[in-house]
Amino acid sequence: MSLKNAAIAVRENAYAPYSQFKVGAAIRTPSGAVYSGCNVENAAYPEGTCAEAGAIAAMIAAGETELVAAYVVAGADKPVPPCGGCRQKLAEFAKGDIEITMATMAGEEQVIRMDALLPGAFDAAFLKE
Ligand code: THU
Repeated sequence: MSLKNAAIAVRENAYAPYSQFKVGAAIRTPSGAVYSGCNVENAAYPEGTCAEAGAIAAMIAAGETELVAAYVVAGADKPVPPCGGCRQKLAEFAKGDIEITMATMAGEEQVIRMDALLPGAFDAAFLKE
């Protein structure tokens, strides 16, 4: 399945009773596998999780640790950019030159490289003393 179709399909399952804002995310790994996730909200609002986090969790649960493309879709007027926390989560598993596509349900798309989405990222290299 294409990343676009996977993201659109999983978005249908988003649990967003509080914001009514459904998001779907799909990522591809070097093996060609596609993992998807949707946002899962909670009555304790800060406990909600983003679609990107769900897709990454599915990838890790399947035993893979690199993503080479990502697609995020929501029902907004303009393509929705991943939140700050999700930029950091994506960067943990992506090289700087991979492309992230943000999309609307109407089909508008915007493509951005990982290193443009999170310039100056904090990464594991900083942990070495
Ligand atoms: N949300 C995502 O799932 N991904 C994003 O990139 C932006 C925001 C979710 C979180 C929350 O459930 C809803 O959208 C409104 O913020």
